[in-house]
Amino acid sequence: MINRFRSWIGPKEREQMSGPAEPSAENVPQHIAIIMDGNGRWAKKLGMPRIVGHQSGMKAVKRATIAADELGVRYLTLYAFSTENWSRPKEEVDFLMRLPQEFLALELEELIAKNVQVRMMGNMENLPEHTLKAMREATRRTQDNTGLVLNFALNYGARRELVEGIREIARSVEAGRIRAEDIDQEMISAHLQSGDMPDPDLLIRTSGELRISNFMLWQIAYSELWFTDAYWPEFSREHLREAVAEYQRRTRRYGGLK
Ligand code: IPE
Ligand code: IPE
Ligand code: MG
Repeated sequence: MINRFRSWIGPKEREQMSGPAEPSAENVPQHIAIIMDGNGRWAKKLGMPRIVGHQSGMKAVKRATIAADELGVRYLTLYAFSTENWSRPKEEVDFLMRLPQEFLALELEELIAKNVQVRMMGNMENLPEHTLKAMREATRRTQDNTGLVLNFALNYGARRELVEGIREIARSVEAGRIRAEDIDQEMISAHLQSGDMPDPDLLIRTSGELRISNFMLWQIAYSELWFTDAYWPEFSREHLREAVAEYQRRTRRYGGLK
């Protein structure tokens, strides 16, 4: 009976009727991408400087990683710093650029023990040397791991990624290696930084903002979207499980009929 009404009752009512939504072991999204937003507002709410929010957000990264791994998710992409975030005050940018090494100093051994493979996408060019060094070390030390792929989007912007991918294809055309007619969707996907990863099945954004902010524009064409008002430092295992449970109740139609 409850199942018949699942499509029109809200999550609150559903929870009252059947307890908190629990994801099933089947139909787990292969790739979850998260726009980790709201660190600054979370700190402000507590009367603290914005950087306290970023610091606390690191713990949420750990929680999300463990929860995703536990569910059997294959790829977790986390939007950590956008190409537009450079426009923030220098002190905040400097603080954010120190977080990867701080996070990895604390967590790398455990990530290795959990067979997690760390990857990074974004523009490496303007990153400080200390940030790059930490990311490179993590990538190198986990490259042969076969478990969850933890992919950090750092200094990442989807439009820039597309421009670079298209330039590379154009060079192949110029050099006569391929013809313009050979360009297809697979070729464009392969020239993006997400490379061999499948497109995200589920895109999560925290903090109540309902926008994409230049994140994976090409890859999210058919992703399911899930938003929560929770600020990123508040994001818990339960949030991820709730998002996955909701994902599992949806019907992906890709323009067809079901
Ligand atoms: C997300 O939190 C972290 C980054 C974008 C680097 P914000 O820093 O955007 O926090 P709000 O959105 O200002 O609250
Ligand atoms: C998006 O959050 C970027 C990251 C989470 C890294 P922003 O806080 O930068 O996005 P806007 O400015 O609110 O769109
Ligand atoms: Mg924000």
